[in-house]
Amino acid sequence: MSIQNNLRSISELYKTDKLEHGYIEIYDSYFKDLRNKELKVLEIGVADGKSLLTWSDYFKNSTIIGIDIHKIDIKEKKLDRKNIKVHQGSQSDEKFIKEIISIYGEFDIIIDDGSHLSKDVKKSFHLLFPHLVKNGLYAVEDMQTSYNHFFGGNPFDLKYSNSHMNFFKHLTDRLNYQEIANPFYITNKYDSLITNISFYHNLVFVRKGTNDILSKEVLNHSYEDMKFKEKSSRTGKSLKYYFKYKIFYKVYTYLFMIFNLIKRILLLRF
Ligand SMILES: C[S@@+](CC[C@H](N)C(=O)[O-])C[C@H]1O[C@@H](n2cnc3c(N)ncnc32)[C@H](O)[C@@H]1O
Repeated sequence: MSIQNNLRSISELYKTDKLEHGYIEIYDSYFKDLRNKELKVLEIGVADGKSLLTWSDYFKNSTIIGIDIHKIDIKEKKLDRKNIKVHQGSQSDEKFIKEIISIYGEFDIIIDDGSHLSKDVKKSFHLLFPHLVKNGLYAVEDMQTSYNHFFGGNPFDLKYSNSHMNFFKHLTDRLNYQEIANPFYITNKYDSLITNISFYHNLVFVRKGTNDILSKEVLNHSYEDMKFKEKSSRTGKSLKYYFKYKIFYKVYTYLFMIFNLIKRILLLRF
């Protein structure tokens, strides 16, 4: 079935603004193989219900759950369908989100099209991502607000601000957490849980999955420990390699770490 008679035509029927944003073709590429499955699709932000109606037609066998901070008149918006559920509450209200989780359990797809405020986008992600199924998808729309200080973004400090774009940029390090050669590495709650992060114009996708392949370069986040283990077990010359890797290389690592700590303190980067 071509996109002309599926997601695009359904989107045109309900006039969802996801079309003009250019999201529909991207969503179709992720969703076309899932279309007939029994999924739980959660969308933050209901408004006129255009996207809920689109998903309701597209994912015929799924439950479409919409949450919105405002009261939604489901009769008036024609959302009184069997496979649509609407709840009123804020995406950053922990108690409310926990209630939603207690009703539905885990979700297959989560789409954040709510307030688009940096603090809300990050809070919802922290609350909801743990309740995404394995291989589930978390999408965040309208990332342009990240570049706008009226939405909690920051157009003047693209690299180091607390914007939600920077949150997702930094999340990419979780794809490679195993490789970080910092012997003092502090584990992050998203380590081992993310297999893909994709950035599109104003749209981000995070794929949940098992990411636990061990590093071939570092042992417990230490390059020198890995090298010592490899070389001493291959050659039997433990003393020689102990001095080289456990003393000389380690001192270099610690000096490099101290230099970077001082640099970060001086530049106020924490
Ligand atoms: C862009 S509209 C959603 C459009 C809808 N998803 C669609 O594509 O047809 C954003 C919605 O988010 C809701 N909203 C704003 N802040 C929110 C919050 N903190 N929690 C939940 N919903 C919120 C607004 O009331 C508004 O209805």
